[in-house]
Amino acid sequence: MLKTEVTLEKIVNLAKRRGFVFPGSEIYGGLANTWDYGPQGVELKNNIKNFWWQRFVRSRFDIVGLDSGILMNAKVWEASGHIESFTDPLIECKVCHERFRADKEDFKEHAHREWTEPQNFQMMFKTFMGPVEEKASTVYLRPETAQGMFVNYKNVLDTETMKVPFGIAQIGKSFRNEITAGSFIFRVLEFEIAELEYFVKPGEDDRIFDEWLEEQMAFLLDLGLKKENLRLYEHPKNSLAHYSKRTVDIEYKFPFVWEELTGLANRTDYDPASGEVYVPFVIEPTFGIERLMLAVMCDAYTEIEGGRTTTTDSTKEVEMMMKFKYHLAPYKVAVLPLSKKDELVRVSREVFNKLSKHFATSHHTSQSIGRRYRREDEIGTPFCVTVDFETLNDQAVTIRDRDTMTQERVAIDEVVEVIKEKLQN
Ligand code: GAP
Repeated sequence: MLKTEVTLEKIVNLAKRRGFVFPGSEIYGGLANTWDYGPQGVELKNNIKNFWWQRFVRSRFDIVGLDSGILMNAKVWEASGHIESFTDPLIECKVCHERFRADKEDFKEHAHREWTEPQNFQMMFKTFMGPVEEKASTVYLRPETAQGMFVNYKNVLDTETMKVPFGIAQIGKSFRNEITAGSFIFRVLEFEIAELEYFVKPGEDDRIFDEWLEEQMAFLLDLGLKKENLRLYEHPKNSLAHYSKRTVDIEYKFPFVWEELTGLANRTDYDPASGEVYVPFVIEPTFGIERLMLAVMCDAYTEIEGGRTTTTDSTKEVEMMMKFKYHLAPYKVAVLPLSKKDELVRVSREVFNKLSKHFATSHHTSQSIGRRYRREDEIGTPFCVTVDFETLNDQAVTIRDRDTMTQERVAIDEVVEVIKEKLQN
């Protein structure tokens, strides 16, 4: 087995062909930089989000969850500084009118050289509430989830028994009108942020910041990302966001370049309202779900030169496999009857019913068994359970292992326990 070069093009193709990510509004000509998550994509995304929630909410006595609205009173964005400062410097090509960010490198490779003066471009999407389009009814789609936690700080304090240091966490859709979106799901207009506002005593912020940086790195490694693909980036003072005293990103080696995967900001007392005995500082670890998903897909992508399928379908070309860690694989088990004959399908449905109570399980009858194995390899299913004609006599099935290709005969009555054990390894 050979690990070959991972390119964004290969990931995009596999993602579309195997139902992870589809281009948005495709049959109506598409809508640039919008994507839809297919049957495999939604499972993978949910697995990442659940792993995050389990780790940072359910396993922590000092952190509680929240799900706040995407639409908020515009005063929130005035107070947070977003209306004034959530902007990117925009320049436009005077010849072809293509727009670029003045603070990024891309524009230097553009064919023409005549630019407009940089102007501040507001990145929040604006819309109107109610039937009248006027200033008073303006609302914004949130560009981050943080403010939901800040406006509910007192509600949480009043209803919970939390004392500083404590955190509020949420995962939710955020929207940014990016000037230069792209690189597949890396920079999009609509994406999910998983973030935490961790409230601390002023003076303890630097120590707790360092602790959170370690927590973030440990999370990424436990998620299954390779250590050699991760590194830290300390933001220079002059490029910090308007609310931050210190920001450190964890960058991932995406196929195109090292880029931000997670952020950690010390927001000091920029956000909390005063009126407390002291105003707590905020340490803010943030994760982009789409970027985590892209990183997980890049890390898992594996090519096998010459193929490995041993059936007549074997084409001896390059075969692909998504070697997801078991806990992230969209489906843990696929139940595959050897043929579409009624008696095999009936038994295989029974096996499916048993397994699906415990694991994300799929059931497929179409195509030859070789092609179905290949499909399961490409979507990263760790185990295939094959129901064949012998099953009708011996009440047993064959379990095929994605990584070793070994096949094991197991009684139907034991199949749940055997797979449970295998998934723990
Ligand atoms: N509240 C802090 C905050 O929002 P951010 O660094 O602006 O911080 C958080 O964004 C995370 O969201 C980033 O670390 C990145 O993973 C992800 N992210 C930011 N912009 C994105 C975009 N346009 N498309 C996809 N993910 C994005």
